[in-house]
Amino acid sequence: MPAFAVIGGQWGDEGKGKVIDYLAGRVSGVVRYAGGNNAGHTVVNDKGEFQLHLVPSGICWPDVYGIIGNGVVVDPESLLGEIGELAERGMDTDKLFISDRAHVIMPYHVALDALEERARGEAAIGTTGRGIGPTYMDKTARMGIRIGDLLEPESLRPRLEQTLNIKNKLITAVYEGEALDAEEVMEKALEWGNRLRPYVHPTEQLVQDLLDAGNNILLEGAQGTLLDLDHGSYPYVTSSSPSIGGACTGLGLNPQAIKGVLGVYKAYSTRVGGGPMPTEVFGEAADAWREMANEFGVTTGRARRVGWFDAVAGRYSQQVNGLTGMVLTRLDILDGFPSVKICVGYRVEGQDVKRYPSDTRILEQCEPVYEEMPGWDNPTASATSLDQLPDNARAYVNRIEELVGCPVQIISTGPSRDETILVEPVIP
Ligand code: IMP
Repeated sequence: MPAFAVIGGQWGDEGKGKVIDYLAGRVSGVVRYAGGNNAGHTVVNDKGEFQLHLVPSGICWPDVYGIIGNGVVVDPESLLGEIGELAERGMDTDKLFISDRAHVIMPYHVALDALEERARGEAAIGTTGRGIGPTYMDKTARMGIRIGDLLEPESLRPRLEQTLNIKNKLITAVYEGEALDAEEVMEKALEWGNRLRPYVHPTEQLVQDLLDAGNNILLEGAQGTLLDLDHGSYPYVTSSSPSIGGACTGLGLNPQAIKGVLGVYKAYSTRVGGGPMPTEVFGEAADAWREMANEFGVTTGRARRVGWFDAVAGRYSQQVNGLTGMVLTRLDILDGFPSVKICVGYRVEGQDVKRYPSDTRILEQCEPVYEEMPGWDNPTASATSLDQLPDNARAYVNRIEELVGCPVQIISTGPSRDETILVEPVIP
């Protein structure tokens, strides 16, 4: 009856989509618990290449439930678009369910996301502009609209009118933006409700029933631990809890059901948007790295910042989540580098900083202390067993494992499902 979590160990974009798709054949359900369509999960398998934003990455496996839990914020337009695209490509969405408790990203949330970012000026967070922060704000302020509300026109209308009245004042008087038309928003909301109705469900019951019937489920993390609202480099974070705690609240899941927590780490670092990244590489070296690795966002197309593996941050993520194992992705990108570096500590004004600082201003001053290791010429790309890896690549993996403090259970050596080394079984 256990649940296994797959969680981003860095700043998102670690390759969780591929890992979920790889593991989903061993489970009965894949469940999203946090974030929204700010996520972009790429899945490549025998059915083709899929860019998913809200639909759980297990969708390519027939008979696997795809569940969007209460902790997710849902942009119905985006979700319906994704469902339509999947259907066009012959994928079955009969087993897709959305929590009636999940909050809806309304058009005014998207408008406010852009206006708030503009008002932040130089201190902009670099959000994805999908309305994520404003939707979670309304959830906490107890003025959100939930998926279940879209199915109840009579009670929805007065609530929406009251909320929009407040939002329009904010949009026009504070941010000098354009007011939204209440009738248009209401019409959209009702249309969404009608189209989403077949998918809406009390998903916490579905999750519990799956577990009670002895099934395995996968908890699909979005974003990464270093973007966590509480545990990331605040305020340069997302507005949800991508780390393991978010899985319990975002699904109504009993923590004792979680038997494994797998942290997904890229073999180097990337970050999109603002905020400190101590191991960042700049200039031509960064441009070349980014181009060669195609490090551009799935959701926004923005260039990702690139840098060396940060084992201080990596160990911190391991501790926050209680990781039982790790997955190392994109090892093949480092093929041919003359040497590779791992950040093993930080220094601020000549002093050693051993732990990942909570104060973002200190984090911004951290200079990385590197260990340099020889690179490898023979490719790791497409390797499917450990003995196909060059010795230096194995030494690199072993050192990361030691520094992060949990066993590497899977190594990903390319985007396809089969370009994977299963070092040890993750799901029995
Ligand atoms: P928001 O989640 O759109 O509010 O953006 C907040 C921060 O999280 C920004 O720096 C985004 O670039 C970052 N972010 C949000 N989602 C993802 C993701 O899926 N991958 C990487 N970065 C993300």
